[in-house]
Amino acid sequence: MPDTTRKAVVAGGNGVTGRAIIQHLETLPCWETVGLSRREPEFGTNSPFVAVDLLDRHDVEEKLSGITDATDLVYAAYQPRPSWAELVEPNMVMLRNVVEILEKASPKLRHVTLIQGGKVYGSHLGPYRTPAREDDSRHLPPEFYYDQEDYLRSRADEGGWTWSALRPDAIAGFAVGTPMNLLMVIGVYAAICRELGVPFRFPGKPGAYRALTQVTDARIVGQAVEWAATEPSAAGEAFNVTNSDPMRWEHVWPQLAEHFRVPRADPLPFSLTEFMADKTAVWNRIVERHGLRPYPFDRVASWWFGDFVFGMDYDNIFSTAKIRQHGFTGGIDTERMFTELFTELVKQRVLPPGIEPS
Ligand SMILES: NC(=O)c1ccc[n+]([C@@H]2O[C@H](COP(=O)([O-])OP(=O)(O)OC[C@H]3O[C@@H](n4cnc5c(N)ncnc54)[C@H](OP(=O)(O)O)[C@@H]3O)[C@@H](O)[C@H]2O)c1
Repeated sequence: MPDTTRKAVVAGGNGVTGRAIIQHLETLPCWETVGLSRREPEFGTNSPFVAVDLLDRHDVEEKLSGITDATDLVYAAYQPRPSWAELVEPNMVMLRNVVEILEKASPKLRHVTLIQGGKVYGSHLGPYRTPAREDDSRHLPPEFYYDQEDYLRSRADEGGWTWSALRPDAIAGFAVGTPMNLLMVIGVYAAICRELGVPFRFPGKPGAYRALTQVTDARIVGQAVEWAATEPSAAGEAFNVTNSDPMRWEHVWPQLAEHFRVPRADPLPFSLTEFMADKTAVWNRIVERHGLRPYPFDRVASWWFGDFVFGMDYDNIFSTAKIRQHGFTGGIDTERMFTELFTELVKQRVLPPGIEPS
């Protein structure tokens, strides 16, 4: 028997993570979803969206006070800032605004799920203890995830809801205009290599090519959100969630080259940010020739994020033992994931033909 009807408000519903969460919950008969973002949703969805600026308390009050029957809040909103310290305030303000207004408006609110990530473990700083476990010691703040988690922990009883935190790593899903999107970095880089007739080289550090690493299919995060909201033992706990398929780019990259039908060659470290800076005309030519959706080049991929991920010349692995012990069974073979997601991006006319499995 399905659980009683649940209604989830997904903050950041237009983002690379949020939209996959909405798309998953939309497949479930007993869930309703409402997305929150400033922009109109940029993907096919049947869920209503509320255009709201979560940084503006008055706007949140005005737009969310009418949502009186939410049972769940899924928090996947994110405000980028140029320094770790500057991330704290805006990302705390947005969370506080949505939690405090929604718990007042929706007396049946019962669960809040926070999306975190590897920064909890210091994976952005350098080699860290791997496989990372949820109870590993914190690094020296600032770290906005700590403030967000501590806030939920301290407010849950008073608010009458429980909380869980999910910790994915580099999310693979479709979105444009977002700061962190590995899938689009790989797909657009491959399309440009093909167009220019140059090999598809791994552009990162030699150590990053060989290190043990991981990604998280955004669809798995959607499944984990459903699981965390309905599994009683997930209340008050944080969980790593990845594909549960550790990999090394040295094995995956040649397969990607084969899938994309681009010649491959040895890795060569260079900055995608720097070398993509003059490729707007190349991308526009690809878009025009193949009748792709006209996403502007400066929104289609976040090159700095590619440089960051391909620059991690140390093991980057989270243990997923805890979430499995609590009963979550989601996971996917990473090569299969890339195949499925790139096939879909070609079908959706986001990437040119040829950027799909042969
Ligand atoms: N992407 C990854 O690889 C990755 C990996 C691990 C962890 N995470 C974590 O997952 C969380 C979500 O990240 P993401 O990459 O999915 O982010 P994202 O793609 O940039 O999406 C962020 C969302 O927040 C919304 N938003 C931002 N400011 C807002 C505001 N003032 N008012 C209303 N909505 C606002 C954006 O919508 P509009 O712009 O339309 O308003 C967008 O829907 C973050 O905590 C991130 O650190 C991400």
